[in-house]
Amino acid sequence: MGVKKKIGMLPGDGIGPEVVAEGKKVLDAIASKFNHQFEYEYALVGAAAIDATGNPLPNETLEVCRRSDAFLFGAIGHPKYDNDPSAKVRPEQGLLKLRKELGLFANIRPVTAYESLLHMSPLKTERIIGVDFVVYRELTGGIYFGEKGRTADTAFDNCTYSYAEIERIAELAFKAAQNRKKKITLIDKANVLETSRLWREKVTAMAKDYPDVTLDCMFVDNAAMQLIQNPRHFDVILTENMFGDIISDEASVIGGSLGLLPSASVGNKTAMFEPIHGSYPQATGKNIANPIATILSVAMLLDHLNLIDEAIEVRQAVKASLRNGLVTEDLAKEHGYGTDRVGDFIVNHILDGSESGTQSNIQMGLSTII
Ligand code: IPM
Ligand code: MG
Repeated sequence: MGVKKKIGMLPGDGIGPEVVAEGKKVLDAIASKFNHQFEYEYALVGAAAIDATGNPLPNETLEVCRRSDAFLFGAIGHPKYDNDPSAKVRPEQGLLKLRKELGLFANIRPVTAYESLLHMSPLKTERIIGVDFVVYRELTGGIYFGEKGRTADTAFDNCTYSYAEIERIAELAFKAAQNRKKKITLIDKANVLETSRLWREKVTAMAKDYPDVTLDCMFVDNAAMQLIQNPRHFDVILTENMFGDIISDEASVIGGSLGLLPSASVGNKTAMFEPIHGSYPQATGKNIANPIATILSVAMLLDHLNLIDEAIEVRQAVKASLRNGLVTEDLAKEHGYGTDRVGDFIVNHILDGSESGTQSNIQMGLSTII
């Protein structure tokens, strides 16, 4: 028996629409193979929404998200706002408001060093082989959302955390660790910051309820170094908003391509799934953006909807595309395929398990999906 789900689609800016289009193709393939019904609703966000309505997150978009079981987000950001510190409205405000309004308090970013891509990483192969960890970043608190202010020559951003904010994300991280290698690293700056000491206190107390999970605590400066020197050390990383922002970008280079990394932002109701890369304005409309991060975000979305076999199919198809070199130019300089061709290969793999046949069609420029 298939299921019926409402899926929001927020393509956003730059390459967002192109990669989300591939994500939708994959969802359609899964729906047809498993007899599900996915009902899509599209909405504007980011610079695209500012251009159309003056607001980076129109209320209508929030409503689309609220009534969705889950939603796929492309990317936001446009150069015309990046270099203008006086801009009153910014695409990023849309994203921050979306997280806060929907209570998406946990950002989950898995980092895997794929066997076939080890050579792409700026780190030595022996250092990254077997790397497989996941970052749990707190997403609706801390310095991002604290009181801010400025006078002519002074500015401040407050960082506040409560037990409740720490507890709800730590719970998710401990549970994730129980299903993985049973290890959590809390990243903080408890030698300096009061909020970090609160995190340590709470998380250490909670660890008693998860006797099968080992907790270690690491200062963020040391963690920044360990991620490069010894990335296999990590299983589940738990951290606050700002440290998580920085650490997760650093972690993303381990695997060799930003174009591969998916993420989930979850709360109590709906959840958001997005590639971690940005809007990559220079690539917009060129059909060169890597759709895999979005397609792996679709796999996380399927997991979230408890469609576990479906998510496995998507991940297998992605691995087949990597194995067969059916990838965009960021992963294969001279012989990169178009964004849509990579999507076609993955879709065909899901639909009929084909690798070689599909590949030769694609090489000839023919897709079996019209
Ligand atoms: C991220 C991004 C955002 C953040 C920006 C775009 C506001 O860097 O999702 O990591 O800082 O959280
Ligand atoms: Mg970031």
